[in-house]
Amino acid sequence: MAGQATQSAMEKEIRKILIVFGTRPEAIKMAPLVKVLEKYTHIFEFKVCITAQHREMLDQVLEFFGITPDYDLNIMRPGQNLTDLTADILCRMRDVLSDYAPHYVFVHGDTTTSMAAALAAFYHGTKVCHVEAGLRTYNKHSPFPEELNRQLTGRIADYHFAPTEASRKNLLAEGIAAENILVTGNTVVDALLMATSRLHDYSSAEIDNLHTKLHPEKKIILVTGHRRENHGEGLRQVGRALQRIVTEFNDVQVVYPVHPNPNVRASIQAVLGNQESILLTEPLSYPAFIWMMKRAALILTDSGGIQEEAPSLGKPVLLLRDTTERPEAIDAGTVLKVGTDEDTIVEAAARLLTDSSYYQLMSRRNNPYGDGQACERIVNFLLDKQTTDEKE
Ligand code: UD1
Ligand code: UDP
Repeated sequence: MAGQATQSAMEKEIRKILIVFGTRPEAIKMAPLVKVLEKYTHIFEFKVCITAQHREMLDQVLEFFGITPDYDLNIMRPGQNLTDLTADILCRMRDVLSDYAPHYVFVHGDTTTSMAAALAAFYHGTKVCHVEAGLRTYNKHSPFPEELNRQLTGRIADYHFAPTEASRKNLLAEGIAAENILVTGNTVVDALLMATSRLHDYSSAEIDNLHTKLHPEKKIILVTGHRRENHGEGLRQVGRALQRIVTEFNDVQVVYPVHPNPNVRASIQAVLGNQESILLTEPLSYPAFIWMMKRAALILTDSGGIQEEAPSLGKPVLLLRDTTERPEAIDAGTVLKVGTDEDTIVEAAARLLTDSSYYQLMSRRNNPYGDGQACERIVNFLLDKQTTDEKE
């Protein structure tokens, strides 16, 4: 009997965590946290819930990291709109929370999954832990709807894992108590280190196939773009700029994995077709994309995550956005904000392709976003907090 009493006391102490994500970048950035939590199952119990706001792009990441979700809400619909997406996530998360009754819900970043899952957790009375907290443009229309998603998640969250000192300062200025914020570095670096350590003995038909399509002597410009505020004319201008770049520089090949959002595809297809010097592909798996970033001379993107990965790999980035909540790499000189104006993009790319000392300056390897230990810091913080939380 005494043994049973001790065992049930121990069972009581185990805190339950629910990790929620829905899109490719969230999956990449939460995967290392799942891997670290796997080492602490004597202290925490955890389950993974995917909303599947993305489907194939999410599944690619889960497969690479070997993560099998406990809950799969499977909500993605072709051309989904923000209202339906938000409502679906909110309702479906209510059921998951009732079923699992976690003590903590972890969400990441600025997607609709993060914001709606955080709100559902708040309604359920569960503590919300926000990874990649505190990034701000303070322009609610850019990035849309991500800036407001992240601010709302920040209002809801109990614990805030800020990747950098600048993001911590934003949270402090908004009145978040210092003891509830931890500067961790960005978990994207944890993921990148985890993935690159496996790349040298990683072989895949996808990478082999990609390899055969690359011109061995040409410089590669790697391109991605998906932001809602760039749909339509923004992406069409990017497409026209790429066309001009490959016409002007015959030693350049563009590789462009096109996001499956139908609005993105429509904008790109209006100006670009597959041709020898512009390779349009389906989204690459995470390891293939890292391989491609390493192979690239420069990257043109409006992506958040790629802005954070490229400096670690020493690749200059021309940022196809008018605002950014990630000023660190711009300050460090490896990311240059060019927006989506066709002439500005062509001019900036031409300078990088012709001025080697400028290129060297922009391709200095630096790492303003972390050291690969962010997830260990997050779990240690929670180990400390759970003692006080238990008393509440
Ligand atoms: C979402 C996030 C954005 C994030 C981006 C990463 C929101 C509001 N937006 O934008 O913050 O930067 O993901 O890529 O949370 N689709 C597929 N297969 C997939 C994924 C998407 O076919 O695996 C198509 C579907 O038609 C889907 C559409 O893309 O309806 C849009 O997906 P959605 O998640 O709403 O928007 P994203 O632009 O991907
Ligand atoms: N990525 C990928 N395959 C691709 C393009 C990007 O695996 O074809 C990875 C990239 O390495 C980064 C993340 O996806 O980690 C960025 O996702 P995305 O640009 O869709 O979203 P954002 O970061 O802008 O939210």
